[in-house]
Amino acid sequence: MILTIIFVEDYLTKSNIDEAENNLLSQNTQVANQIAPFIGNVDNEYTYRYVEDIIKQHSFEYNSRIIILDPQNKVLLDSYDLLNNQKVSTEEIDDALMGFDSANIYVHDSKYVFYAAVPIIEHNEIVGSSFITSSADYIFSDVGEIIDKLLLIFTAAVAVSIFISILFAQIISKPIEKLTDSVQHITLGKYDTKVDISSKDEIGELGDAFNMMTTKLSQVDERRKKFVSNVSHELRTPMTSMKIVSDTLLSSPSWDEAVYREFMQDINSEIDRLNKIIDSLLYLVRVEKDDLDLNYNMTYVNYLLEWVIKTIKPIADTKNITVTLIAHSKIQIQLDQEKIQQCLLNIIGNAVKYTPENGKVWIELIEQKEQILINIIDNGIGIPERDLPFIFDRFYRVDEARARKTGGTGLGLAISQQIVLLHQGRIEVSSNVGEGTTVSIRLPRK
Ligand SMILES: Nc1ncnc2c1ncn2[C@@H]1O[C@H](COP(=O)(O)OP(=O)(O)OP(=O)(O)O)[C@@H](O)[C@H]1O
Ligand SMILES: [Mg+2]
Repeated sequence: MILTIIFVEDYLTKSNIDEAENNLLSQNTQVANQIAPFIGNVDNEYTYRYVEDIIKQHSFEYNSRIIILDPQNKVLLDSYDLLNNQKVSTEEIDDALMGFDSANIYVHDSKYVFYAAVPIIEHNEIVGSSFITSSADYIFSDVGEIIDKLLLIFTAAVAVSIFISILFAQIISKPIEKLTDSVQHITLGKYDTKVDISSKDEIGELGDAFNMMTTKLSQVDERRKKFVSNVSHELRTPMTSMKIVSDTLLSSPSWDEAVYREFMQDINSEIDRLNKIIDSLLYLVRVEKDDLDLNYNMTYVNYLLEWVIKTIKPIADTKNITVTLIAHSKIQIQLDQEKIQQCLLNIIGNAVKYTPENGKVWIELIEQKEQILINIIDNGIGIPERDLPFIFDRFYRVDEARARKTGGTGLGLAISQQIVLLHQGRIEVSSNVGEGTTVSIRLPRK
């Protein structure tokens, strides 16, 4: 706006001065033309009066001073009657005597004046010059008025835009303030805080995303609390057993050595159990890391399955359970050997563990277009339908009492599922109580 004002002021002043100078020159030419025929005769009293009348009339009309000079710069006539017969020389008069129209603006005592001179020509000869001076102050006061008006308009515009900006800033900042408040709530641990932003713009979207985030946060927090309480519970059970056994031993000074031995064996097996829980937990934490890198290798799944079966065979033999691998072709895919082995050990281990003596376990390896399918089928005790949705949860066991006897921690399936998910695969279980269980693992070929 300031630049505009500077530009407008400059432009208006220049164009007004040009226009005024041109006007002055054309008025001056009129005067010169009118008096040209009489200039040679001004010595004559009547002619002099006649010419004097003309210039005084024009001088009055144009509100300016008119001076008529001869070619030697001598003043023949002055409408103000002050310079008669004196010599006057200005740049404009010199120009006029050489035949040019000439006009300029000057400052005298901080007042603006125009000087304009034109030649007086009679019979193609320069017989003198007509010189006009007139005040130019009005030009600057006119431009000043326009600039004042512009300033007023611009000030009003600035005031209105500031007002609108403040208004908009408040409309925008209100929801952001709400968000800030909610973030502070979350910092205090209130994870299920929700913001109420109804606008349909980007801020509204941010509000929705924020609410989704807090929902997720509170779920994670809920899971974390449950996990901690489960872990404490799982660790406490063996501790309690050991405490009871050791208290009993300490309560009497003289037990039989056989009793000591038996009790110490109990303590020993509880320590084993504790170790198993801690190992499994650490492994689970490791595979649940967000940025876990899998160590992919091209692997024959057939050989991997054979290795797992060989490892489990001694346990299966004690219950006279047959473990059979059914594979029609050799299949090779990219996978993290150590992790998939761990997963298969868990699941085939379960099939053997939860199948009574003389049972059967089949492992089918099936090649499909985009994926490979491994079915682990047993004819064991099965899983009740109401437990199926939970068996992948950490520490979940269908029959707590039996699980304690078999040494199950309830972490095996949680770990297995996480490993399959890390490989972008899927794991599913179907089961009928008393008939058996099928666990299906699907792994992508690429
Ligand atoms: N093949 C199966 N037949 C019957 N029940 C099963 C079978 N596989 C798993 N389950 C049930 O699912 C529960 C969870 O299995 P998971 O492997 O996670 O734990 P676990 O076997 O008890 O302990 P862990 O594997 O850590 O030794 C088991 O306790 C068992 O009740
Ligand atoms: Mg298991």
